[in-house]
Amino acid sequence: MTTAKTDGGSPVDGDSAMEAEFDVVAGWTRDAVAALGPDHAIPAACRGTASPTALAWLGEACELGAGSRLVDAGAGVGGPAAFAAERFGVRPVLVEPMVGACRAARELFGFPTVAGTGDRLPLASGTADAVWCLGVLCTTEAKGALLAELHRLLAPGRPLGLFVLVAERSPVPDAPEGNSFPTHDELARALDLAGFDVVQQVAAAELAATPRSWQDRMDRVERAVADAHGDDPRFHQAEEQEERMGKLMSSGAVSGWLVHAVAR
Ligand SMILES: C[S@@+](CC[C@H](N)C(=O)[O-])C[C@H]1O[C@@H](n2cnc3c(N)ncnc32)[C@H](O)[C@@H]1O
Repeated sequence: MTTAKTDGGSPVDGDSAMEAEFDVVAGWTRDAVAALGPDHAIPAACRGTASPTALAWLGEACELGAGSRLVDAGAGVGGPAAFAAERFGVRPVLVEPMVGACRAARELFGFPTVAGTGDRLPLASGTADAVWCLGVLCTTEAKGALLAELHRLLAPGRPLGLFVLVAERSPVPDAPEGNSFPTHDELARALDLAGFDVVQQVAAAELAATPRSWQDRMDRVERAVADAHGDDPRFHQAEEQEERMGKLMSSGAVSGWLVHAVAR
């Protein structure tokens, strides 16, 4: 995957589908939040789990505490990290390859945000009290390298929280561009190889539904983005990616899992 261009100039070809979805839309989302109000920021900026119940579960599982340093790798627009800061009092550090998403996250939440990919995290070893990586493993072929880097940041016994889109059957038909979903076995093997013990995993669908008030704020931001950019080809490209993902989830070919693991 390429590192991001700015939201002014992504061409609509090749892996620019990922750029449209994660980079260009990030800037549009920030603009929509600016118009709708700051209470829209966290729901709109959660691009992986999109659910406060899932994020709360993961925070409790990882025993996040006030003042602890949470590194969010592949942080997107920063919604999950902002949720964790608000709910658990953590001090987040964001790493994200898309420059437009980094900029949007910094402007929305003001956290330290570094541009970088998960397989070469620009952070010193052992400096995280906890690491989150939500909705990212399925966007890279370099799963082992990503997990090894997450492990490098953690002292033994420290927690890792993942949200992973898992292939319930393989091969997955018509996957969105740039995605490669691990099976349950592949995920378990990759975590073990990287030096993690899995403590618990739950299907996100088993947790309480996303509250209406949260969903309404997400919907308002999406409508504002569609109103402002609905005739932009990158909007349609991002939408097509999301629709393909939605079909895979509703058919049961892919499902979302929350994983709490600890570094050995
Ligand atoms: C589905 S979004 C999830 C964003 C965020 N974690 C959340 O839950 O809102 C996936 C994110 O992973 C990022 N990403 C893709 N490949 C990556 C890699 N190799 N290392 C780190 N992040 C990556 C994308 O730019 C995108 O922001």
